Order: sequence, then C-alpha cells, then structure tokens
Amino acid sequence: MKATAKAHTNIALIKYWGKRNEALILPTNNSLSITLDGFYTTTSVEFKEDLSKDAFYLNDCLIEGEQSNRVIKFLDLVRDLAGKELFAEVNSTNVVPTAAGFASSASGFAALAGASTKALGLELSETELSRLTRQGSGSACRSIFGGFAEWQKGQKEDGSDSYAVPIATESHWDIRVAAVVLSSKMKKVSSRSGMRRTVETSPFFRGWVDSIPADLTAIKEGIRDKDFEKVGQIAEANCLKMHATTLGANPPFTYWLDTTMSVMQTVQELRAKGIPAYFTIDAGPNVKVLYLPEHEDMVQNTLSNVPGVSEVKLSKVGKGITFLKDDEFA
Ligand code: DP6
Repeated sequence: MKATAKAHTNIALIKYWGKRNEALILPTNNSLSITLDGFYTTTSVEFKEDLSKDAFYLNDCLIEGEQSNRVIKFLDLVRDLAGKELFAEVNSTNVVPTAAGFASSASGFAALAGASTKALGLELSETELSRLTRQGSGSACRSIFGGFAEWQKGQKEDGSDSYAVPIATESHWDIRVAAVVLSSKMKKVSSRSGMRRTVETSPFFRGWVDSIPADLTAIKEGIRDKDFEKVGQIAEANCLKMHATTLGANPPFTYWLDTTMSVMQTVQELRAKGIPAYFTIDAGPNVKVLYLPEHEDMVQNTLSNVPGVSEVKLSKVGKGITFLKDDEFA
C-alpha cells in the first residue's frame, strides 16, 4: 500500500488572503496562480500493518511537532475517506529551497494528498483531489493543476464547491518567475495567523475582498490574450493590496524588509528602462518577479546585484501533479 507523487509549488497572481471557515479551510475570495516547474516536493506514503503511529520524514529527518501534526491530521481525513485505520510512513523530499520563501506547504500537501489517496486505493478525480488537498493547506489545492489555476472559493458551508480549476495549461504561455532570496531573515508571522489577524481586525479587509472579482476577470483576459503587461500590472497591484491589509491590522504588521522594498524599486526601474517585469510577494519578505524569457539575463543580473539579495532562482511554468514509480523517487 505504497504510492509516490510529485507536485510543484505555485505562486499566486491573485492572492488567497482570508478564510471564512478555518477548520475546513474555506477562503473569502477566489485566487489564481502559476504552477512553477523549478520548485517541487516528491512524497511517498506507505500504509503498513505493523506501525503503531504515523511517521513523517522530510529530507530524511524525522519531523515532530506542529508540522508533523498537520500531516497526521491530513492522513486522518484520507483514512476516513477510505474507511481504513492503518498508520503510514511518509517520506518527503523538498526541492523547494525553503529560503526561497515559497510556501513548501503548497507542493507538500498536494504531493501528500496524491500519494496517500493512491496508496489507499482511492481513485480520485483531479477536482476531488484538489478539494481534499485544500484541507491540508489552502494554496495547495491549486498545485494539483499545471499552468494557470484558479481556486474557486465556493458558496457552500461544507466546502464541497471549493476547489481549483485549470485556466490554461503549462504550454499555453512561456512566462518566467525569478524568486529573489534575501540574505536577512525576520521573525515570521505565518500566513495562517497573519490572515486570521487581518480578517478579524483590519478595516481594509472588506475593500480587499470587494476588489477581487474585477482583478480576476481582467487577469483571466490577460492570460487568455498573453498580454504580459496587463497580467503583470494586475498581479503587482493585487499583491500590494493584500499587503496593505496587514498594515491596517491590530496589532499592525508587515512581511516586508528594507531589502524587499529595494527589490520592488529595482523592478520598477527595470520597467522604466523598457524591460517588462512585475513583482509579487507572499507572506514573507522575499520577492518573486515575473518576466519574459527574452529578458532572463537582464532580469537575473539586475536582481542579483541588489544589495542584500543572496540568490535569484529562476523557474518556468510547471505541470500538475504526477505519480511516480518507486525507482523514480527523486
Ligand atoms: C500569501 O495556503 O499557506 O501565499 O490555508 O492556512 O495553509 P493555509 O495558508 P496558505 O496561505 C497562502 C497565502 C499566500 C497567498 C496565496 O498563496 O494565495
């Protein structure tokens, strides 16, 4: 009863920021992301008769505490669904440089959902898999699909209509993402607690939610028409709106460092020089920059030279979840 799955992380162009139901992970707004081929997690799950509890290994280290509890809670959902009571050994390899500020939870929970359901013989459709994955980590439900995916928030209380749908495949459009890693660290407010505080206390939160439908309609047109300026402008503005909500929270907070702002300025300077590039930022200080393949060298060199930047990692658009044979585990 073993299976292995590989899932890529994703970067949201229209952010998921706010939950209407914390237990079921139901969002207050639709979100839209690009799946990235450069960053992924491979996870193998084996359910065994002789285990007395679950064991979760990440990059060959046994993990305990909060991170492992989230994995076990997710395995409980899968066991319920399959009507099985076996414990599992979970082995994950992250090719998501944690320092790159990508939520490895997105690729991590997508791979875990794929491998664990397959190991227990559940034959789920991609929609069913996305809906289940959502309950591990919201943004992960978009990583079931390659290319561009939209997480539809749904209306129902039970979450049955809250899952991701594909918008365009990875071959639709070759755009690139540079993950700009900063050398300084800051104490992290997790995305989970940051979005909770924003929902509960920020007077800007309503404005954020109200602004989403127009952003979504416009960005989907931009993706359909391969209009890079349009997609970039909407993504950058949407990211700034999301981060503005945190400044209105009580107590206020921000994920940005001074270097975050230097990188943002550098991206704007690139544009002033005629290089179309746009930034987006998740719940952390690192910046992701959207650009076109013909500007790769220029973008990489310019970003690498910003003081305080330690690394710039490049990625293309990636594919959705895949299942591997044992000997392909990597
Ligand atoms: C800022 O998916 O990590 O990256 O559902 O609580 O696990 P949980 O949160 P998570 O939040 C991601 C927030 C974001 C925006 C996004 O990816 O859409």
